[in-house]
Amino acid sequence: MNLLLLGPPGAGKGTQAQHLMACYDIPQLSTGEMLRAAVAEGSDLGKQAKVIMEAGNLVPDDLMINLISDRIGQDDCANGFILDGFPRTTAQAAALDTMLGERNLSLDKVISITVDEEALVERIIGRFSCADCGAGYHDEFQKPRTEGECDKCGGGNFTRREDDNRETVKSRLKTYHEQTAPILPHYEADGRLIEVDGMAEISVVTDNILMLLEDGRGD
Ligand code: AP5
Ligand code: MG
Repeated sequence: MNLLLLGPPGAGKGTQAQHLMACYDIPQLSTGEMLRAAVAEGSDLGKQAKVIMEAGNLVPDDLMINLISDRIGQDDCANGFILDGFPRTTAQAAALDTMLGERNLSLDKVISITVDEEALVERIIGRFSCADCGAGYHDEFQKPRTEGECDKCGGGNFTRREDDNRETVKSRLKTYHEQTAPILPHYEADGRLIEVDGMAEISVVTDNILMLLEDGRGD
């Protein structure tokens, strides 16, 4: 199963990707996570990406296309993958079609998660994650079961993203509307797009996505 999760910053792409990974046993390919790892490593890509990400802008298309093309070719993607955060521009969407076509692959479904703008800001400002295993949380909507302890690995170190501040969020949302939302019609036109109400509770959103994916299997 090859899936693409689309939606504005804070829509719940990463959160839902975690559940879909477990259901279908396929990896999440998050370009945001890859870039944050590159920044932490201090690689050339990381140095270039750091400033761009902190300003809420997009890393150049050619760098992102190469990154995802290499990643899709890795062994763990043999049974499918969940794209999260790529494509983000019309040029990236065209490049994805080409790279999948060359491998005789295609996207089974494109899931667009919709959320009200005010809720997005609240979600992003309250987000934190486990510094050890990466599990995602929220100050209000997804607290660890035991305060200060990660549900998944039991660790007690938590971290917040550099770009999760009010100012950068505004600019990330603007970038989304100007550069990413215009790719939606591309997927709508060929019937692969399914829209999911991301305002519901996390588990309800997951159930709705799974139901829509299973419905589509009979196509
Ligand atoms: P990226 O990491 O992809 O960030 P993003 O698109 O801004 O999306 P987020 O990760 O902020 O949101 P999400 O939808 O994953 O939400 P989450 O599930 O965490 O990209 C970061 C940067 O990297 C970009 O700005 C850009 O600079 C660069 N970049 C990345 N890819 C690129 C590309 N292809 N080209 C160029 N540049 C690129 O949920 C958010 C919070 O809400 C969590 O705390 C969660 O617990 C909570 N939550 C989730 N669902 C619900 C719900 N239903 N109800 C209540 N709370 C919820
Ligand atoms: Mg994310």
